[in-house]
Amino acid sequence: MKTIQAKMHNSISWAIFTALAALFLFQGVPVRSGDATFPKAMDNVTVRQGESATLRCTIDNRVTRVAWLNRSTILYAGNDKWCLDPRVVLLSNTQTQYSIEIQNVDVYDEGPYTCSVQTDNHPKTSRVHLIVQVSPKIVEISSDISINEGNNISLTCIATGRPEPTVTWRHISPKAVGFVSEDEYLEIQGITREQSGYYECSASNDVAAPVVRRVKVTVNYPPYISEAKGTGVPVGQKGTLQCEASAVPSAEFQWYKDDKRLVEGKKGVKVENRPFLSKLIFFNVSEHDYGNYTCVASNKLGHTNASITLFEVKTTTLPPGKGPGAVSEVSNGTSSRRAGCLWLLPLLVLHLLLKF
Ligand SMILES: *[C@@H]1O[C@H](CO)[C@@H](O)[C@H](O)[C@H]1NC(C)=O
Ligand SMILES: *[C@@H]1O[C@H](CO)[C@@H](O)[C@H](O)[C@H]1NC(C)=O
Ligand SMILES: *[C@@H]1O[C@H](CO)[C@@H](O)[C@H](O)[C@H]1NC(C)=O
Ligand SMILES: *[C@@H]1O[C@H](CO)[C@@H](O)[C@H](O)[C@H]1NC(C)=O
Ligand SMILES: *[C@@H]1O[C@H](CO)[C@@H](O)[C@H](O)[C@H]1NC(C)=O
Ligand SMILES: *[C@@H]1O[C@H](CO)[C@@H](O)[C@H](O)[C@H]1NC(C)=O
Ligand SMILES: *[C@@H]1O[C@H](CO)[C@@H](O)[C@H](O)[C@H]1NC(C)=O
Repeated sequence: MKTIQAKMHNSISWAIFTALAALFLFQGVPVRSGDATFPKAMDNVTVRQGESATLRCTIDNRVTRVAWLNRSTILYAGNDKWCLDPRVVLLSNTQTQYSIEIQNVDVYDEGPYTCSVQTDNHPKTSRVHLIVQVSPKIVEISSDISINEGNNISLTCIATGRPEPTVTWRHISPKAVGFVSEDEYLEIQGITREQSGYYECSASNDVAAPVVRRVKVTVNYPPYISEAKGTGVPVGQKGTLQCEASAVPSAEFQWYKDDKRLVEGKKGVKVENRPFLSKLIFFNVSEHDYGNYTCVASNKLGHTNASITLFEVKTTTLPPGKGPGAVSEVSNGTSSRRAGCLWLLPLLVLHLLLKF
C-alpha cells in the first residue's frame, strides 16, 4: 500500500514536472541542453491521413524518467498511459529507446510532440513535428452546362488536401488545347462554338495521384449551311440533292420546291435526315422534277436556307429508250475480246463433233 502511494505520489510530481517543462517549452524558453544531441528524437515525421506514425526517442542508461507529450498533454510517462486515446500505444521502453505509435492519424494530430527525459535530475526535451498529409479530393465542381454562343460561363472546382492541392483547368476535347486556367475558377467571356467540349479539372499535391473530374460544356448556335451543291441528272436516273448544316442542337431539315413543302412519302422521293446532313433522293428523275429546291435548316436558335438546283444533263452514251444500265453495254477492249472468245466456241464444238 505504502509503495503504491509512493509510486502515485512520484508519478504525480513527475507529471507536474513534465507539464511545467512543456509549458516552458511552449512559452519559447530555450530548453536547457547540457548535451545538445540528447535525448535524440527523430526528424519531423510525415504520414498520410489514416496511417500510423511512430515517434521514437533515443535514450541511454543515465535516463531515469521518460515521457511523450502532445503539446502540453502527457500521452505516456514511462509505461503508464496518461491519455485516453486508444490510438496511442507504447511501442518500446528500453534502455536505448522510448517509442510510441499513433494509429489512424488524422489532421488534428498534426503538431509538435515532445520527448521529455530526466537524467541526473536534469530535464531535457526533444521535439518532433508530426505532419499529416491528405490526398487531394475534389469537393465541389460545376455541373455540365449548355449555353448559347456569345454568353459568359464560369466553372468552379474546389479541392481539399494537405498540402493544399494545385487546381488547374484544361480544355481536353474535341481538341486538347492545354491549360486554360491555373486556378479553381475558369471564366470564359463570349464563348464560341470552338470552345465547347470537355473541360477537365485536376487537383494535385505530392501526396497521391492527381484527381480529375470533367465538365461538359455545350455551346448552342443556330444552323449554318456548309454545303448545298446543285446536281445534274439525266431523265430516268437516280438523283440526290444534299444539304449539310452544322448546328447545336442538331438542325431539323425541310425541303421546299417553289415555296411548296415536300412532304415525306411523296411517290418516288425520299428524304434522309442525319444530324448534320439531309438528302433529297429522286429514284427516277422525270422532266418535272428539275428546278430549284430550298433546304431549310432550323433549331431553337434560328433557321437558314439554301437554294439547290436539280438540272438536266443529256447522256450521249444512252441509246434512246434504254434505261439505266445501258452504260455498261458500251463495249471496250475487254468486252470485245470476250465476244471474240464466244465466237470461237461454236467452232470448237463443231470441231469436236466432226471428230466423232
Ligand atoms: C519540422 O517542422 C516544423 C514545423 O512544420 C518546421 O518549422 C521545422 O523546420 C521542421 N524541422 C525539420 C528538421 O524539418
Ligand atoms: C494532440 O493534440 C491535439 C490538440 O489538442 C488533439 O486534437 C489530438 O487528438 C492529439 N493527438 C494525439 C495523438 O494525442
Ligand atoms: C459577359 O461579361 C462581360 C464582362 O464582364 C459583360 O460586359 C457582358 O455583359 C457579359 N455578357 C453576358 C451575356 O452576360
Ligand atoms: C422511270 O420513269 C419512266 C417514266 O415514268 C418509266 O418509263 C421508267 O420505266 C422508270 N424507270 C425506272 C427504272 O423505274
Ligand atoms: C433557280 O435559281 C437560280 C439562281 O439561284 C436562278 O437563276 C434560276 O432562274 C432559278 N430557276 C428556276 C427554275 O426558278
Ligand atoms: C430563305 O431565306 C430568305 C432570306 O433569309 C427568306 O426570304 C425566304 O423566305 C427563305 N425561304 C424559305 C423557304 O424559308
Ligand atoms: C473497259 O471496261 C473496264 C471495266 O469497266 C475498264 O476497267 C477498262 O479500263 C475499259 N477499257 C477501255 C479500253 O475503256
